[in-house]
Amino acid sequence: MPTRILVVGDTDLILKMVGAILLKDGYEVVIARNGHEALEVIKATPPALAILDVMMPDMDGYTLCEHLRKTPSTAKIPIIILTALSDVDNKIKAFDSGADDFLAKPFEPQELRARIKVLLRRASEQEPVQANLVLGKVIAVFSLRGGMGVSMLASNLAASFSQIWGTPAALVDLAFLNGQSALMLDLPLRTTWTDLGRSPANEMDMELLNSVLLRHDAGVHVLASPRRPEEAGAITAEHVQRAIELLRPHYHYIVLDLPHDFLETTLTGLDAADHILLMLSPETASVRCAANAMGAFEQLKYPPDRTTLVLNWTFEGKGLPRAGIESVLKKEIGVVIPNAGDMVVSSIMYGKPPTLQFPLTPLGAFLEDLAYRYSKEDHKQNPPESAAEGLKRVKMRAQARQKKS
Ligand SMILES: Nc1ncnc2c1ncn2[C@@H]1O[C@H](COP(=O)(O)OP(=O)(O)OP(=O)(O)O)[C@@H](O)[C@H]1O
Ligand SMILES: [Mg+2]
Repeated sequence: MPTRILVVGDTDLILKMVGAILLKDGYEVVIARNGHEALEVIKATPPALAILDVMMPDMDGYTLCEHLRKTPSTAKIPIIILTALSDVDNKIKAFDSGADDFLAKPFEPQELRARIKVLLRRASEQEPVQANLVLGKVIAVFSLRGGMGVSMLASNLAASFSQIWGTPAALVDLAFLNGQSALMLDLPLRTTWTDLGRSPANEMDMELLNSVLLRHDAGVHVLASPRRPEEAGAITAEHVQRAIELLRPHYHYIVLDLPHDFLETTLTGLDAADHILLMLSPETASVRCAANAMGAFEQLKYPPDRTTLVLNWTFEGKGLPRAGIESVLKKEIGVVIPNAGDMVVSSIMYGKPPTLQFPLTPLGAFLEDLAYRYSKEDHKQNPPESAAEGLKRVKMRAQARQKKS
């Protein structure tokens, strides 16, 4: 039976053009001229993939896409949105609507073909729940002050763990109001925490969780924040606890990208963490926030060695001296991340963490080595027989350092 693809649009040109490409490739093509017709067609003859034009009279492609994502029976249909414009605004709209891909008109038939193939292949690769049970290490990245590089570090650590150990790592975004973990990896918000918040926490199982994780090709599985802040209210501390509990036996590394607060959901993440990376930058407000966070950790009776202070040079130029910060906080700074200028910014803009985009540059290497440092001891003692590329790079750098000293 040929694979059925739905094309939704109100202009003959697009329907004919896309239709002709698909028919030529042997797909079965069904057509709808507006959003409402599309919903009826989908109900009657569910497609394997849908291509939506943005401009339609009754509801635009983004709204239709959002609607499909919200409805459980259609939530998983791979969706490509076609738009005449390729500006940032449209890209963000497509991303927020949950579309899998976005193609600006005019496009080459080959480009459409390639994207359809990728999406169909991805959809057919039903990722089974990993059977080998492990004891995952939970690493929380936290700061009470915003903009300290929490999401940057969390996404790079998760990507590095998977590159070093050759096994997927989980990245859990607990910044429900404005989390950007998925954006950092350029993953469309197809499914999010909202899909878990719909049912009581005790009904959450690995199958549901597995269907909500967004998968990055580099082996990072992301539990993304809701598309809209108003969806955050339905996610409780129990949901967070249950999700971490379920992930732990399936992922060696679970990285939490935390918000800058002490909400119940955040505290649940911190409580579950084997290690907390507390981030600050060399400026007074940031040091004060770090001191407050450490005070709270003390009240929560977290052992002092559970927390490492990470000084991140988010800005260039003069900042408070390291020794001064250590004396105020009465704790040594364990990690200093150098200022990386535009490299981090461009990585964030293009959704490619430095460890993936530039693994050989000083910043990419630094972050990869940092992930190794926080890797599980049993992993370091018993590395896999055939080392993954990331581990080879880490080992080579360690040897080079040894030779120098
Ligand atoms: N070492 C660095 N060098 C240069 N820029 C950096 C560095 N670390 C982070 N940044 C920049 O700082 C900004 C904040 O980073 P990020 O979003 O990761 O922080 P956050 O703590 O998660 O912030 P938010 O409050 O938005 O959650 C980003 O624009 C990032 O590019
Ligand atoms: Mg953040």
